[in-house]
Formats: sequence, structure tokens, C-alpha cells
Amino acid sequence: MQIIENNIAFCDRYAVIGNPIHHSKSPRIHTMFAAQTGQNIKYSRILGKTNCFAAQVREFFDNGGKGLNVTLPFKQDAYRLADQCSAIAEIAEAANTLMMANGKIFADNTDGLGIVRDFVYNHRINFTKHTILLLGAGGAAYGIIGSLLAQRPAHLFIANRTPTKAIALANKFVSYPVLVKGGGFEDLKNQHFDIIINATSTELSGEQLTLPQGCLINDGVVYDMLYADAPTAFVRWGVEHGARVAVDGLGMLVEQAAEAFLLWRGVRPNTSEVIKNLRDCLR
Ligand code: ATR
Repeated sequence: MQIIENNIAFCDRYAVIGNPIHHSKSPRIHTMFAAQTGQNIKYSRILGKTNCFAAQVREFFDNGGKGLNVTLPFKQDAYRLADQCSAIAEIAEAANTLMMANGKIFADNTDGLGIVRDFVYNHRINFTKHTILLLGAGGAAYGIIGSLLAQRPAHLFIANRTPTKAIALANKFVSYPVLVKGGGFEDLKNQHFDIIINATSTELSGEQLTLPQGCLINDGVVYDMLYADAPTAFVRWGVEHGARVAVDGLGMLVEQAAEAFLLWRGVRPNTSEVIKNLRDCLR
């Protein structure tokens, strides 16, 4: 008789695909979610290949895979290959979550909901009527802006090293009820914000962002979408400039995963114990 270890043959299969992928915490997060909610799933890593990403995704689903998380550098490719997508993935022009629905590949982007839930439920901070500065106009900024605006802040300014990219992103929202403007870092002089979100990749290159004095209000909030085992340079900047809250994006990582899990399994996992587990491991 064939003995099947842990009923793996009967599990629904999920995976994260990206390149590089060995560092991904998604298998650990989803395995904790599954244990917590009693879901019988197997979650693995796939090393994505630039020239055959679409073929890899189709093969995964053709072989019965149920859902994929997509990470760098394939989020835009994932959005483009999908047959259908959510409104928020349409705004982001990128997807971090794929699933098979009625024989079609459906794309969603849970990054925006992930950061909003981290702010609102984990840090008890609302965006409504607050002034927000979003630093960066690359993929990370595109991924969250729709969800930020849905929270109805007073206004949102996008500042980018290449100002034209910030202006182009802001122009997507001219008909929105929230005022959205874009520009360069020099346009930040004499502007003051309640919340500053870093969506640039400066932490990865070790470069420092220079923001004008007074850019963050007293007791403001600073959020770095990246996370590390020690406070990031931007989190340290926030602390030095009197931020009431200065946090990194570990909570967002777990919350965006929880949104994907909810989409796939119809169950919302408890994120707080998973965030604590990951933080303890980082220390
Ligand atoms: P991601 O998908 O992580 O957002 P990306 O699309 O390459 O990556 O975008 C990186 C963002 O970080 C961009 O907004 C980039 O600014 P440019 O559009 O001018 O390239 C920003 N960035 C990277 N290095 C930076 C630096 N040293 N100073 C300021 N902004 C920087």
C-alpha cells in the first residue's frame, strides 16, 4: 500500500514565485496561517525565470495548483498574463496574488489592503483626513496608492527622485475625490505631512533620503514599506524627527499574505501571532 506522508497528495497546492526567492517568508507565513485555521494546504517556493514566467504560471495551474503569490520582479507580468483582475490590481498595473477561478486566471493585488490593515488594526492609525506623503513612484507605490486613497485622506503628495514619474502617477487620479499631486523632493519645502510612507528602494542600496526640516509634523507617523532585522534608515530618520510612530513593513508583509489567504481559502487568519513570530525570528 502506498503511504502518503501528511496527506500531501490531497492538499491544495499554493506557492510563491519570484527571483530571487530563497529569502521569501511567504511559505512560513502561509504554513502558520494554515495550521492556525485548520486548512490542509501545501505551500512552496518557485524560482521564476524571466523568459518563461508566464509558462511557469500556466504549468502550475494546469497541474492543479490553486493559487500563487507573486513577488519581485514579476508583479507586472502577473497582471498582464491574467484573464481577469480586481479593480485594485488594475490601478496598480501589477498583481501579487493569482488564483484559478472558473478556468480563468484571476489577478489581485493585496499590498494596498495589507498596508492599510497594518496601519488601522495593528497600529490604530487612520488615514482619513490626514495629509500623506508617499515617497517613490515605482512598483511599490503603484501597489498601494489605490487602497490609500480609498481611505479618504485629506490629500496625498507623491515625491520621487524622477519627478515626472510622480506626476504621471498622480495624474491617474485627477477625477478622484482626494487631491493627489506629484513632484520632486525639492517640492516638499514648506509642506507638512501627518504620515510619510517610504515606497522607495533606497534601503536596499544603502542610500539615504533627504527630506526638508518640518516635512513631518510633530508627533507624525513614519512608515517604511521595507523591513529588516534592525530599524531601517528611514525608521531611524522618523525617530530622530520626533515621530509618534516609526515602523517598518513587517506587518504589511503579513497582512498582504492574510488577504491572499482569505481570497484563496475564505478564512481570515489571525495575523498578530504571525507578526510576533516573524519579529522574534528577525531579532
Ligand atoms: P519597487 O518595485 O521596489 O518600487 P522600482 O519600481 O524600481 O522598485 O522603484 C524604486 C523607487 O525607489 C523609485 O521611485 C526610485 O526613484 P526613480 O523613479 O527616480 O528611480 C526610488 N529610488 C531608488 N533609489 C533612490 C534614491 N537613491 N533616492 C531616491 N529615490 C530612489
